[in-house]
Amino acid sequence: MRSSEQPALAAIHTVWLREHNKLVTELHARNPHWDDELLYRHARRILSSVTQHITYAELLPRILGWDAIHKYKLELVSEGYYGGYDSECDASIFNEFATAAFRFGHSLLKPAFKRFTAELRVKEPSVQLRDTFFNPDILFKPGMVDELMLGLVNTPMETLDNFITEEVTNHLFEDKKRPASGMDLAALNVQRYAFFICTWPRLELIRRQTTPSCHNVMIWFTLHKN
Ligand code: HEM
Repeated sequence: MRSSEQPALAAIHTVWLREHNKLVTELHARNPHWDDELLYRHARRILSSVTQHITYAELLPRILGWDAIHKYKLELVSEGYYGGYDSECDASIFNEFATAAFRFGHSLLKPAFKRFTAELRVKEPSVQLRDTFFNPDILFKPGMVDELMLGLVNTPMETLDNFITEEVTNHLFEDKKRPASGMDLAALNVQRYAFFICTWPRLELIRRQTTPSCHNVMIWFTLHKN
């Protein structure tokens, strides 16, 4: 469901899935005695480290800049093994990150995904965002995953600024038959953070005083909904 939110995301998920299956096939050939679960876990572990490598080697330097990478010691080691792994470190993300900070990515969106041929020529038409939210059908067209992936790697992102494409600020999940039915992602972002700021301190209080459970949160909302 989540991966179908837009076709480029579904294409990336497809590539990861294929890579996972390729790893499982290779691991199985080397370790025929491993069961499905072990093969799955091992391939998942390898793939997670590939994602982490891309994140630290390619994404973060572009987002934060090399000064920040050096300042916070986020460089990858060029050989050997990293020795600073801390099993006590809580790796779960902060609410501030999910409800606000990481949504900066919405400013980087282009209104349409370009498609490229294997010869790196642009193939028309591009895939307009508003036409394909939660509609991954186009991925069934032969070659589409490859065309979208080549489009992604050959197209620069939008600049990080105060602007967000109208595709998601006026046409998000719109119903084509109903004019002005599109949602506004920027507004959703603001509302999520406002909601978080208003409720989190009190939810945190409840969490500390009682056994943390969804039930407590539900009770809190029932009591405070007005
Ligand atoms: C076409 C591309 C994208 C679309 C259509 C999209 C759309 C959405 C939507 C509809 C939500 C939920 C909004 C809400 O109800 O609060 C969301 C959440 C979010 N988006 Fe995007 N987004 C896109 C790309 C990105 C990118 C590139 C990033 C970051 C680099 C990003 C980061 C996030 C984060 C962190 C959340 C919150 C997730 C959570 O708390 O579970 N999004 N996005």
